[in-house]
Amino acid sequence: MTLQSGPVNALGSGLRQGILAAVEAAEADPAVKAIVLIGGGRMFSAGADITEFGKPQSGISLPDLLNRIEASTKPVVAAIHGNALGGGLETALACHYRVAVPSAKVGLPEVKLGILPGAGGTQRLPRVVGPRKALEVIVGGSPIGAKAAAGMGLIDELAPEDGLRAHAVAFAERVVAEGRPLTKIRDRDDKIAEGRDDPSLFAAFREENARKTRGFEAPEACIACVEAACRLPFDEGIAFERAQFQALVSGTQSAAQRYVFFAERQAAKIPDVPDDTPARPIAKVGVIGAGTMGGGISMNFLNAGIPVTIVETRREALDRGLKTIRTNYENTAKKGRLKPEDVETRMGLLSDTLELDALADCDLIIEAVFEDMGIKKEIFSKLDAIAKPGAILASNTSYLDIDAIAAMTSRPADVIGMHFFSPANVMRLLEVVRGEKTAKDVIATAMQIGRKVGKIPVLVGVCHGFVGNRMLAERQREANRLILEGVTPWDVDRVIYEFGLPMGPFTMSDLAGLDIGWSRETNKSESVRDLLCEQDRRGQKTGAGFYDYDARRKATPSPVTEEIIAKVAARQGVKRKDATDQEILERCLYPMVNEGAKILEEGKAIRASDIDIVWINGYGWPVYRGGPMFWADTIGLPKVLERLRAYQAEYGDAFKPSALLERLAAEGKGFKDL
Ligand code: CAA
Repeated sequence: MTLQSGPVNALGSGLRQGILAAVEAAEADPAVKAIVLIGGGRMFSAGADITEFGKPQSGISLPDLLNRIEASTKPVVAAIHGNALGGGLETALACHYRVAVPSAKVGLPEVKLGILPGAGGTQRLPRVVGPRKALEVIVGGSPIGAKAAAGMGLIDELAPEDGLRAHAVAFAERVVAEGRPLTKIRDRDDKIAEGRDDPSLFAAFREENARKTRGFEAPEACIACVEAACRLPFDEGIAFERAQFQALVSGTQSAAQRYVFFAERQAAKIPDVPDDTPARPIAKVGVIGAGTMGGGISMNFLNAGIPVTIVETRREALDRGLKTIRTNYENTAKKGRLKPEDVETRMGLLSDTLELDALADCDLIIEAVFEDMGIKKEIFSKLDAIAKPGAILASNTSYLDIDAIAAMTSRPADVIGMHFFSPANVMRLLEVVRGEKTAKDVIATAMQIGRKVGKIPVLVGVCHGFVGNRMLAERQREANRLILEGVTPWDVDRVIYEFGLPMGPFTMSDLAGLDIGWSRETNKSESVRDLLCEQDRRGQKTGAGFYDYDARRKATPSPVTEEIIAKVAARQGVKRKDATDQEILERCLYPMVNEGAKILEEGKAIRASDIDIVWINGYGWPVYRGGPMFWADTIGLPKVLERLRAYQAEYGDAFKPSALLERLAAEGKGFKDL
């Protein structure tokens, strides 16, 4: 039986009906001795059809279908290549045997969609691999290779890479010839004994993963299901899993996480730059600047096997940058996440120079120097003379005008923004900034190379701070106003952290360094930041900023900071007042949503979901809240509008609702309807 449905064999109602009919026909046909279930096309199956969630079910449900397969009177062998994920793996688990090619990947990624394996996966997997491994697979959500799966007993036999079908058929014939029993995973209980005898393993797992799973509902439900698998008879376990699944799939978190799954794929699509736009070949990359950003950016390309030439103006800065890159790799190797020989392979792809001329043969040049328009203009006019024809000239600026930079060259069509997020070798977001004259194939190339080096590229337009930092500035402004009114920085940070972001604005400032863009010469001793910097409280790196830090960089609220804030507030005559957590949250986040709406109005982002992808991947916005625009929709735009108006009355036009927000609220629509 060959599964054949769309690009990933998603188990939608049509495919489920087809499998049911084929199993029944095979059972009824005396000539059939066994069934091999194999995927047509690229893979076995990517699981349930996610687009069907939340809609009325048509035809047989996946759990019922799998029970039917398991109850077959003839052996069913799953033959796996490509992926068997979610319901795809659950289908394989309902079969009596599983064979796979070594390159196949199996996993239960449902947790990443805010749900759990709801077709028996939480009950069958622990019966095969034991509760501990099952927890890792189900709560971790990452696929595992077939070899590792075979090691766990999840795959019965590995098949040759190019002979899966023949191998699986031979396997089935052997099963029949030997009269092997129809092994059903539901009947096994040897592996789950461990969870019954030592239930403390669940508490230990919860504790180990508390940081990673903070705020998410699905991981806890997954753990509870595996616990139930160890404790309850199979059918009761299945009923428990069903109830947990239903609760999750109808909740906001799962809606948000499914939305993000599709939003991420949407972001790759640019209406006027079709998928088949030819991209320029990128065999060699130049990076200007060996600071934190330049170094991190270079690592992305080295990791992908693309040679990089890095340029600095001074030898010491260059050496320092190279040393940081090497240390980063060595640390990764020490943690066992990189083979020691790969450190040398990657470093071997890196050349360094003090001469800009050395970039003449690069296909892509990324400038990552200090945020100073004068310096950037100078570099681009030099690059214009140096770079080979057709080379892409990119700036990593985080807010400056790409068009003004492009205007310094005779080839503005080749100029584009590629804004990486710090730490650039870790954060997945890449804002690709489209200038007024940027050529379509340059956009296609930047998006494609971004994906190749493991980023999630999002196309944005030229404006101050682009999408991410432009919205961040709104939050920063309000956070600063709140502390002058008497809310402590620690309370603002706590509210933002509890909302689900990795850190609040003041922790973030301390981490980045308060002296970015500050100098003693230009210091005006006006803001809280000015006064903190004057006292050499420049953030974590100096052991103090808004917070005090101990030797292990643990933060404690600082009375010095509170005094400074009180002083600045008195000098500026700010009225001190209390604010509830709700007000703190609204004042920090609603202006961001409002700014997002302005960005859409101005066409600086293609769609609201692109803004959400920026915030999730660049700033750690909690996935289970779907990004700021999705979040605003879940609150309801009329409510957001009403609060913005109230704050506008009190604090002025920083809160003035955008025309788009007004219109959508009036029409009873959300950003999702755009
Ligand atoms: N349902 C519906 N559509 C799906 C899908 C699914 N499970 N998986 C992928 N697609 C769609 C994608 O949206 C994409 O559509 P467009 O071409 O229109 O953009 C298309 O199939 C191809 O997908 P990718 O671009 O992602 O292809 P890829 O080769 O890069 O990746 C993949 C393949 C690794 C399988 C990846 O698609 C993936 O991770 N899919 C989701 C897997 C998953 O989460 N499965 C669990 C489903 S929930 C479940 O099964 C619940 C249960 O227990 C009953």
